[in-house]
Amino acid sequence: MIKIFPLIEKISDQILKTKTITCWEEALKRGGWTKKDLDNIPFTLLPATYRPSLVIHTNGVTESAIAMSYVLVNSYSGHVKVDMDILISGGILHDVGKVLEYALEDGKFVKSKNGKLIRHPVSGAALASELGLPDDVLHIIASHSYEGDKTPRTIEAILIHHADFTNFEALGGKA
Ligand SMILES: [Fe+2]
Repeated sequence: MIKIFPLIEKISDQILKTKTITCWEEALKRGGWTKKDLDNIPFTLLPATYRPSLVIHTNGVTESAIAMSYVLVNSYSGHVKVDMDILISGGILHDVGKVLEYALEDGKFVKSKNGKLIRHPVSGAALASELGLPDDVLHIIASHSYEGDKTPRTIEAILIHHADFTNFEALGGKA
């Protein structure tokens, strides 16, 4: 999993690191996918001018949020504090529910039966909760999309939310 999501290596808390890996492995298992499938699962089923894999998107979003956190921390001397472990774990897991939301039918990626009923922020947060990820990470997963617009987001969730939409819209993604 670290080969697929190298930023996991930067999580300093070993328990959080292990739980972040386990969450992806468990989601793949429950969605009926293998690690190899991750090369092909698109980051969105919505229209976009370019649709890279969910892995490329996940790494791009997490990397963007980390870069933005450095700028904020350096620019506002001590007034912005970011928990990097929570930010990275939340970034790597923000779309983990998509492997439950999607299915492959006749060679096409479509919404799964589960995905038609429960969108990925909810299914991802539920799985992460079951596996004992901390509330701050569940909060990022649950609130990264429009579902979180009515929730006051933590700084780590603000960063992942905006990094996610930036990466989506930069590729012509339209909701
Ligand atoms: Fe995303």
